[in-house]
Amino acid sequence: MRIAHTLTELRNALDGHRRPAFVPTMGNLHAGHIALIERAKPLGDVTVASIFVNRLQFLPHEDFDSYPRTWERDCEQLRAAGCDVLFAPRETDLYPEPQTFKVHPDPALANLLEGQFRPGFFIGVSTVVMKLFSCVQPRVTVFGKKDYQQLMVIRQLVNQFAMPIEVIGAETLRADDGLALSSRNGALSAEERLEAVQLYQVLRAMSDEVRETGGRVRDLGEIENRATQALVSRGWQPDYLALRRRSDLLPPAADDMTSPMVAVGAARLGNIRLIDNLEIEF
Ligand code: PAF
Repeated sequence: MRIAHTLTELRNALDGHRRPAFVPTMGNLHAGHIALIERAKPLGDVTVASIFVNRLQFLPHEDFDSYPRTWERDCEQLRAAGCDVLFAPRETDLYPEPQTFKVHPDPALANLLEGQFRPGFFIGVSTVVMKLFSCVQPRVTVFGKKDYQQLMVIRQLVNQFAMPIEVIGAETLRADDGLALSSRNGALSAEERLEAVQLYQVLRAMSDEVRETGGRVRDLGEIENRATQALVSRGWQPDYLALRRRSDLLPPAADDMTSPMVAVGAARLGNIRLIDNLEIEF
């Protein structure tokens, strides 16, 4: 695996390749990331991963400084997975001057849910992804569905700027008990790790309830409140638990309960904020 820190090194490593398949990450890799690499591998003529902890997508009180950096282990995992090129720019490589020119995604999507609780998050994500795309110039990119709204924002970014990139959404990888794999799981205590699966459980319960009614739910708010209370009573601090349309992440209209839906949730357990979602199949 070739490691490129600068844009020149990256261009040299990709010289002669016409169809890079790209998986952007912030490092601290786990099996979920490796599954994205596996998914990308057959889709391009060179597989590229990036590791860059993007300051722009963290709010001042968030965990940018303490975000786990596990360089050696990440490189080993990527090598073992057969990744060809790792782009790991330093902050001065990607942001040699303050990034004053930013990408502002459509607020109708980006200010909902995650965007409501992490204002500016999707501006930071869109800006860095746009920049990584201009560096790597992929023909295909793989994002995990665990960050459901992020995947939707990236699809819009690619469509609206007519980028010649195919965006693939890969299914969420889960631990045996159902907890979605995430870099932040490593920061949970043993006790919190046992409790963490409850986020998945309440999303499962929400989704089952909607499915069992065959789309004839009268009050989605009631299901959402019950799910919120279930987590609160176990000591969680939920940001949101919501049933939304998959097309735009808005609440479905009362007469449109059969359009494809997704149960989305974000909640804090101790100091760790976890997010997850489940697509609801009728
Ligand atoms: O999902 C992530 O790890 C990050 O948001 C991404 C897409 C690598 C941008 O920094």
